[in-house]
Amino acid sequence: MPRTPLIAGNWKMNTNLGEAEQLALAVARSAADVMEREVMIAPPFTAIAQVADILHDSRVILAAQNICWAEKGAFTGEISPPMLKEMGGTMAIVGHSERRHIFGETDQLINRRVAGAMEHQLVPILCIGEQLAEREVDRTMAVLEKQLRVGLADITVNEPSELVIAYEPVWAIGTGKTASPEQAQEVHAFIRNLLAAMFEKDIASQIRILYGGSVVPDNVDALMGQEDVDGALVGGAALKAESFDRIIHFNG
Ligand code: PGA
Repeated sequence: MPRTPLIAGNWKMNTNLGEAEQLALAVARSAADVMEREVMIAPPFTAIAQVADILHDSRVILAAQNICWAEKGAFTGEISPPMLKEMGGTMAIVGHSERRHIFGETDQLINRRVAGAMEHQLVPILCIGEQLAEREVDRTMAVLEKQLRVGLADITVNEPSELVIAYEPVWAIGTGKTASPEQAQEVHAFIRNLLAAMFEKDIASQIRILYGGSVVPDNVDALMGQEDVDGALVGGAALKAESFDRIIHFNG
């Protein structure tokens, strides 16, 4: 069974309310004619209610940029799975490299977020990726294996649609440097093999693995042409309606 491609826009800490509404409208229009592909956006929390209203009758999936494991309580600055679900959100980015490297989130903490999301039937997009210094000393696969094994410790996956992985080499995020399609494919195949060792083979073969890191209209077709690249997690280019439209309509 072919995996349904997922194009995900991560708006990060961008857009005021008016900009968010404009962009959400544009994405909803872009996605209207897209068949057999999923489109997702993760706006900042301040705009999520308005964006949810706009997406309500669209084919676009609403996601959070992060998610807590607890339902409520003393977790200053966090958003819970029921809070997101109340807004109509169904997915959550977890373990983004900015959470890891700017805010010090560990694999153990990220594992709790993955578990909490899944307990509430939210689909986590678990982000993993090596830093440049790690790639240069050939530690890429070791770093990814640890992030994946600890990030998914004690996680049960019954259906492949319950989990998404995003490979985002840190050196490619927001830098204009992209992994070559071959580099991405090599890592994605490695990730899929690891998933097969952790979960049932049939499930591992169907879990979607996105590529992220300077995905733009000019490189999306080649990246999506790789066998194990099942979608893209897009930052900068997701903030421009035209670019994101072209990425959603990748050829392949
Ligand atoms: P970028 O960000 O597309 O701006 O490199 C990707 C991401 O951080 O998810």
